[in-house]
Amino acid sequence: MKILAVYGATQQDSRSRLTVNVIAEAARAAGAEVQALDVLAAAIPIMRVDQDFAADVAVQQMKQLTRDADGFIVVSPEYHGCMSNWIKNFFDFHYHEFAGKLFALAATTGGSMGVSCNTQMRVAVQHCHGWALPYQTAVREADFAPDGSLQEQRALDRLQRMGRDLVIYGRLLRAQFEQDLAAVKTGDTVSESIGFAGWYA
Ligand SMILES: Cc1cc2nc3c(=O)[nH]c(=O)nc-3n(C[C@H](O)[C@H](O)[C@H](O)COP(=O)(O)O)c2cc1C
Repeated sequence: MKILAVYGATQQDSRSRLTVNVIAEAARAAGAEVQALDVLAAAIPIMRVDQDFAADVAVQQMKQLTRDADGFIVVSPEYHGCMSNWIKNFFDFHYHEFAGKLFALAATTGGSMGVSCNTQMRVAVQHCHGWALPYQTAVREADFAPDGSLQEQRALDRLQRMGRDLVIYGRLLRAQFEQDLAAVKTGDTVSESIGFAGWYA
């Protein structure tokens, strides 16, 4: 099971990166292969409909990673109650790549509970026919110790649970979607009539 862990670090001690790392470690412990994608370090450009990104190496590498991934971790800082511009831009480059795959979503915030940021990401996932875990996490500035470690035990527990659940439930969803997709491709009309995978065959 391949997991792509997506974030955008706009500062050296990015709490988004630290948060991704906690979920990623738990996902690895549950048996996943996890790769990180910092969309800023990868220099992903701003998506434009009137621009052809076929020759853009950064975009094509990102798309290869998202196609190959079986599930995703996405962590965004909350900006004015929204997901950050960088994470929204990541979503805007994708659609089919997310179908039938499970997402673990978390927000880093100054002090809020990150509900609207997480809800926005959840909506974006849903509109691409992806699934998000039925719970999410927000990590506030005060949850981190001065050395940058996450000191708030409940947030830590929750992030670790997300990593574990992403792998265990994500594997089931992905297997079923792939099975439906294969059935549709070989003309199994029963699956074609019932499964949303039929839209992707
Ligand atoms: C433009 C901007 C808007 C922000 N808006 C909010 C907000 O609405 N609610 C909140 O709790 N924190 C807000 N913050 C604080 C960030 O969410 C917080 O510092 C976050 O941990 C930054 O993540 P990072 O360490 O990965 O950069 C905002 C920060 C910036 C720069």
